[in-house]
Amino acid sequence: MIKFDFKTYVKDFINPSEYNELIEKKQEIINKFNSSNMIGWTKELEQPLIDDIRETAKNIKENFDCLVVIGIGGSFLGSYSFDKMFRSYFNDDKYEIIYAGTTLSSKYLDELLTYLKDKNFCINVISKSGTTMETNITYKLLKDLLKRKYSEEELVKHIIVTTDKEKGILREEVNKMKYKSFIIPDDIGGRYSFITPAHLLPLAINYNLKDIVDGYFDGKRFIDQAYEYAVVRYLMFKEKKYVENYCVYEENLSYFTEWLKQLFGETEGKNGVGIYPTSNVHTRDLHSLGQFVQEGNKIIFETFIKIDETNNYINYDNKSLNDINNIVLDSVMKAHYSGGVPCIEIELSSLNPEEMSSLIYFFMLSAAFSGYLFGVEPFNQPGVEVYKKEVRDSLN
Ligand code: PA5
Repeated sequence: MIKFDFKTYVKDFINPSEYNELIEKKQEIINKFNSSNMIGWTKELEQPLIDDIRETAKNIKENFDCLVVIGIGGSFLGSYSFDKMFRSYFNDDKYEIIYAGTTLSSKYLDELLTYLKDKNFCINVISKSGTTMETNITYKLLKDLLKRKYSEEELVKHIIVTTDKEKGILREEVNKMKYKSFIIPDDIGGRYSFITPAHLLPLAINYNLKDIVDGYFDGKRFIDQAYEYAVVRYLMFKEKKYVENYCVYEENLSYFTEWLKQLFGETEGKNGVGIYPTSNVHTRDLHSLGQFVQEGNKIIFETFIKIDETNNYINYDNKSLNDINNIVLDSVMKAHYSGGVPCIEIELSSLNPEEMSSLIYFFMLSAAFSGYLFGVEPFNQPGVEVYKKEVRDSLN
């Protein structure tokens, strides 16, 4: 059960006539959305693809010590953040998945290569374009290690490629080497690719794919709330609230906020507009950035993600610690609101794969609607190319 509260701690910052005017534009925005050729992520999956993902995941688990997923941005954050949410803080008994490809740190990659030296590992390299520098460098280093360990015939079994259907060097390599491969469809961009093999394959190793896929498409019923969230955020922007702070009260949701930052940052941040997404993990950050939020520059509004029950085994002073955590959340919203910071609340009954997948769909829908409200194309990210070109020029 997911509940949304866009009013209690927001209402004083919203002009009702502006709100109504935007709400009336809903069908116009939905029509724009429906006419986009980048909404492949709203289409149901074919059963043979689900079966193939499941089979491949089973094969990885049965035949290798661990899986190394290589990818960055939209080819990384979805599965990584989801996986992190459901891992135990200690005593993690899930199958080992290492996420690489997000850094050029020589120290990190050196240590990774040393760690993998004696392991029987499998690689899943994920890149829609096939041109991403961090991914390519990491892939080459790990493939070289595999080449030192195995014959060409054996090596083929250790590499799975997830990329474009026909374009790019990874697809060329698949065609030549006959690696196992999956497709990221043309009509789905990186940050919207949660429901593609880019994320479903790594997730199928430790989670029930049906829960994730069913939960995801169940998120469709939140279309009205997704539009309302986009409207409220847009009105916050008009009130000069240029920063949205995502607040979570469970450390293992910290990467989910990284996923949110990419989703909204790359979707809206164009043509000099957009809301800058940032995040806090509470209660930790109440003791650092909390001061700024309460009394600093009033450019911030917040979105709190509340989980009603994460675990009810601990009591303190005859109260459940879980409840205390949520009482703190409620109090912080009240306090920040009194300090001129609007607070939106999204509440889940528990942390489970179905609801989280629904929430992912909700946020993606809302981000896309928001792009249209801001008058920008929601599905591109031309700005990311600027640094890539500078790097290419500098490295010749
Ligand atoms: O959202 C996006 O499109 C980007 O963040 C990409 O996912 C990221 O740059 C990685 O691209 P690729 O999958 O082509 O390696």
